[in-house]
Amino acid sequence: ARLVVLVSGSGTNLQALLDAVAEAPDGGYGAEVVAVGADRGSIAGLERAERAGVPTFVCRLADHPDRAAWDHALAEATARFEPDLVVSAGFMKIVGKEFLARFGGRFVNTHPALLPSFPGAHAVRDALAYGVKVTGCTVHLVDDGVDTGPVIAQGVVEVRDEDHADEGAALHERIKEVERRLLVEVVGRLARNGYRIQGRKVQIP
Ligand code: GRF
Repeated sequence: ARLVVLVSGSGTNLQALLDAVAEAPDGGYGAEVVAVGADRGSIAGLERAERAGVPTFVCRLADHPDRAAWDHALAEATARFEPDLVVSAGFMKIVGKEFLARFGGRFVNTHPALLPSFPGAHAVRDALAYGVKVTGCTVHLVDDGVDTGPVIAQGVVEVRDEDHADEGAALHERIKEVERRLLVEVVGRLARNGYRIQGRKVQIP
């Protein structure tokens, strides 16, 4: 399967996918990263793609007159690589109607909380502030809400007392360790086995 991965930052989830592809004997992972897209330039995520010889594209909101134009550009740039699956891994923008019309149903996101708890851009901080004892990460299909699509898989991470001392930095790192493994496992299964969406259930044979 052809994957386009969207990033906005360090790209360690992207790196986990790149490593899974490279480490699987003769394409056994069942997917390859054909392009990496970002909403901003000069981020580690793009450098990771370049090091792996994967084409990249950048669609900056500021380069377009409005969000719809940006969304169109992002959809066009993504479509050029003919993806079977689009993976948002730390992509910090909410895509628009056109992108969802073209890639909905084959667009997954990874989120560093146990949805529906703590959607949005500050999930780890919000979970800490709430005082939860466990949190984790969720891989889900992207729908037209914010982190509201059908859940595919989740991983649990314990919250430690000392996590409150560093605004959740250590906790987010522990979550990302689980998240990277979960994302690689789920994307590989989706790519190899295919899947069916029935309401809020995603069946992977
Ligand atoms: C991940 O935890 C993702 O869930 C969140 O931001 C982080 C991105 O990390 N949205 P990276 O860029 O993959 O290292």
